[in-house]
Amino acid sequence: MADLNQDTVTEAVIAQMASTPDPRMRQVMESLVRHLHGFAREVKLTPEEWLAAIGFLTRVGQACTPYRQEFILLSDTLGLSRLVNLMDDQANRVGEATETSLLGPFYREAAPQFGYGDSIAVHARGPEMMLFGRVVNEKNEGVPNAIVEIWSTDADGAYDLQANDPSVMDMRGQFRTDAQGRYAIRTLIPLGYSIPMDGPVGDMVRAQRRHGFRPAHIHMLVGAEGYRELVTALYLGNDPHIDSDTVFGVSETLIVQPRTGLADSPDPGLPSVHYDFHISRRAPHDKSGRVGADPSKVTAE
Ligand SMILES: [Fe+2]
Repeated sequence: MADLNQDTVTEAVIAQMASTPDPRMRQVMESLVRHLHGFAREVKLTPEEWLAAIGFLTRVGQACTPYRQEFILLSDTLGLSRLVNLMDDQANRVGEATETSLLGPFYREAAPQFGYGDSIAVHARGPEMMLFGRVVNEKNEGVPNAIVEIWSTDADGAYDLQANDPSVMDMRGQFRTDAQGRYAIRTLIPLGYSIPMDGPVGDMVRAQRRHGFRPAHIHMLVGAEGYRELVTALYLGNDPHIDSDTVFGVSETLIVQPRTGLADSPDPGLPSVHYDFHISRRAPHDKSGRVGADPSKVTAE
């Protein structure tokens, strides 16, 4: 242990952690130390810079509340959430299954239940749209009784947690598909929004001269007994930030554009989107694809 220098300290740390019984933890921590040390060497990290970084991470933790998860926002804005999702998708997504997107920090458990074609806008007002289609399996057969959960901003770009006091749930709900696997949801046309810029992640984004906006989108979580839970979102193609999402959530196959006059829309007079969600059978090792979570479950109080 004596005479450690900048070339030997990394191996000394890894040698000391070699007693870790859990092999996955040992692997992850060894790699983390190698990359952290490599990063510090590469940028020639100074003590002042490292203290500033610790101060930043401390502020990120302090910004977390039961209704705000600044660490998820940091992970999202660094593209790490998307990377983890993409790797999980590549490992587990089967065939034509719908691509995943980020769960984000605004998902809430126990959203109200609605019937076919109901509106999730209980309090919010604005231009309406219809989202409808089927939940189908790998053979393109409708999946009956699937849960289709939606959460979205209102027409001003705010989620319920931002627009109201936290006891109010609005612009979110759970639907069940019918015997043919069909669902229909009346909602408001969402507006793109800025990520929360009043915390340390906002400071970082501003310092990088990034705009901080997400293109307008509708979050979806689709699940059925025996199927892999699908966490995804639909993005409005005419949004000015469709190609520069601050959290890197957009995929080409998830871009939609509401149009009036769709003959099969439950309300053809409304701008409508027909979107079929393709879900795949759950494999024995499958876990939920949720990256991020209900903040109340990941925030220590
Ligand atoms: Fe969102």
